[in-house]
Amino acid sequence: MTRPGPPVGRAARGTGSLLVDNIGELVTNVADGDGPLGLRRDAALLVEDGQVVWTGPARDAPAADRRIDAEGGAVLPGFVDSHAHLVFAGDRAAEFAARMAGQPYTGGGIRTTVGATRAATDDELRATVRRLRGEAMRQGTTTLEIKSGYGLTVADEARSLRIAAEVSEDTTFLGAHVVPTEYADRPDDYVGLVCGPMLAAAAPYARWIDVFCERGAFDVDHARAILACGQAVGLGARVHANQLGPGPGVRLGVELGAASVDHCTHLTDADVDALASTSVDWTSGAVTTTVATLLPGAEFSTRSPYPDARRLLDAGVTVALATDCNPGSSYTSSMPFCVALAVREMRMTPAEAVWAATAGGARALRRDDVGVLRPGARADLMILDAPSHLHLAYRPGVPLIRRVLHHGVPQ
Ligand code: NIG
Ligand code: FE
Repeated sequence: MTRPGPPVGRAARGTGSLLVDNIGELVTNVADGDGPLGLRRDAALLVEDGQVVWTGPARDAPAADRRIDAEGGAVLPGFVDSHAHLVFAGDRAAEFAARMAGQPYTGGGIRTTVGATRAATDDELRATVRRLRGEAMRQGTTTLEIKSGYGLTVADEARSLRIAAEVSEDTTFLGAHVVPTEYADRPDDYVGLVCGPMLAAAAPYARWIDVFCERGAFDVDHARAILACGQAVGLGARVHANQLGPGPGVRLGVELGAASVDHCTHLTDADVDALASTSVDWTSGAVTTTVATLLPGAEFSTRSPYPDARRLLDAGVTVALATDCNPGSSYTSSMPFCVALAVREMRMTPAEAVWAATAGGARALRRDDVGVLRPGARADLMILDAPSHLHLAYRPGVPLIRRVLHHGVPQ
C-alpha cells in the first residue's frame, strides 16, 4: 500500500540516545509481557533516531546521552486515533444544544459544515487541523488518521487532503460523506464524480478511502462501487457503518477486506459473525482482519445507546477505539475520554480499552510500527502522572498525560 510523503515534525536524526527510566509500569502491547498489555514493572526504555531500540528492567538500563525520569509513572504507547474528521470550518454548538434538549441526530448537519468549509481559506482550514492535532497530541495521541469529507467538490476534497497530509501519514478520502445539495436529485452523477475526477485529484494525498454507508447517505451499491474504485488505485478501504441503524455496511466492509468498519452501533449476529471470521494468517502474513472501530464520543454527543463492545470482544473480533473528532457528532479529540467511556459504558476492561486505543488503532490502520513499544517501533509514547494505565478510566477527566514523545522527540 502506498503512502504519501512524510508529514511535518519528524524526529531529527543523530540527536543521540535518550533513556526513559524509573518507569513504574510499562505498557508494551507485546505478548511476551504480562497479560494483553505486555506489562513490565520497574522498567526503562531507550530511544535512538526516533525509534525504540531497547526495553528492559531499569537496573539493566544502558547508558544514554540524555535521560527522562518517569518518576514511577506509567509509560504507554501513544494513542492511535484511527478515525477523525479534522478538516472543517465552523462549529455546531447550537445543534449540540438542540440535541441535548431532545432533537435526534440525523447527520443532516454535515451539509452545514460543508458550506462553512467550502467558504474557508486554506490557511483557516490548516489552522484548525493544526490546533486539533496539537490538542490531541497533548492528550497522548501520536498517530491520527484524518479524513476529508466536508468539501465534496473536486477542489475542496483535494485541498482538504493536501492540508491533512501535512500533519498525518494516514489520510482518508471521504468524498462519499453525504450527497451534496447540488447533486441531491442526481446521486448517481455524484457517485460518478467521486469515482472519477474527485478520486483522481484526491488519491495523491490519501492512503485510505471511506464511505458513509447509511440510510440518508450512500446505499450499499453506491458504497461498494466507490470503495472498489478507490481500491483499484491503491487506496485501502474503511467504512462508516451501522451508526444510526442496522444495515449492510459492516458486511460490505468485510466483503471488500476493509481494514476497519467504524461505529458498529447497531449490529446483527450476522454482522458480528462476519467480523469474527476475519483474521490474520500468521503463516502467509496476509492480513485480512477487519477491525471494529468503536467511537463512543459519538454516542455521548448524540445521546445514543453505546455499541456493545463486550459482544464483539467475546466473539473474538478485534476492537479499536477512536474519537471520531468532528464538529457535529463528536467534538472531542480526547482518547482518554473515549477510554473512560468504553470502560464505564461499554463494559470493556481498562486493559481492553487501553489496548483498543493503542494497538487496536494501529491494527485498524494496518500499521505495526505504532501502538506498541518494542525495539524497532516508533518512539511514540506518553508518560502518565499516575502509576498505572488503570488510572485513565479510574480518574476520568483528569489531565494525566505528563509528557509525550513523538518520533522520540519530547513535545
Ligand atoms: O462519523 N457519520 C458520519 N460522519 C460523522 C459525523 C459528521 C457530522 O455530523 O458532521 C461521524 O459521526
Ligand atoms: Fe466519522
